[in-house]
Amino acid sequence: MLFYEDKNVTESLQEQFALYADRFPVWAQQTSAMHQYAMWTELRTLNVGANLQHYNPLVDEDAAKAYAIPDSWELVAQMPFGNIVAPAGEKTYQPVSERMKVLGL
Ligand SMILES: Cc1cc2nc3c(=O)[nH]c(=O)nc-3n(C[C@H](O)[C@H](O)[C@H](O)COP(=O)(O)O)c2cc1C
Repeated sequence: MLFYEDKNVTESLQEQFALYADRFPVWAQQTSAMHQYAMWTELRTLNVGANLQHYNPLVDEDAAKAYAIPDSWELVAQMPFGNIVAPAGEKTYQPVSERMKVLGL
């Protein structure tokens, strides 16, 4: 699964809302990340495994040719998916409860 952002849309929003012009490329990436996360978790509910890769720009040209991608679309990420052949590895990093602060409780 390939994730693209249309630069024309981002640039149009930058022109329309000058005050936030420098923020739109950042928000475009955040938008893509939310879609990646949604698709990844949705695939998991279907018992399909996935991972996330960033081979761009190496694969940009081949992917654009193969799928007739418009010039204005920028490849953000690639998500290979398929059968789960092995369970996810054990996590060794700091627990979320120690990395995330919940304020005001
Ligand atoms: C935001 C994000 C970007 C990632 N980018 C890559 C990447 O470019 N190449 C890669 O081999 N793995 C990348 N990964 C890791 C793999 O997708 C990994 O298989 C996946 O995160 C599952 O392992 P985990 O449960 O330990 O996170 C990325 C993961 C995340 C969350």
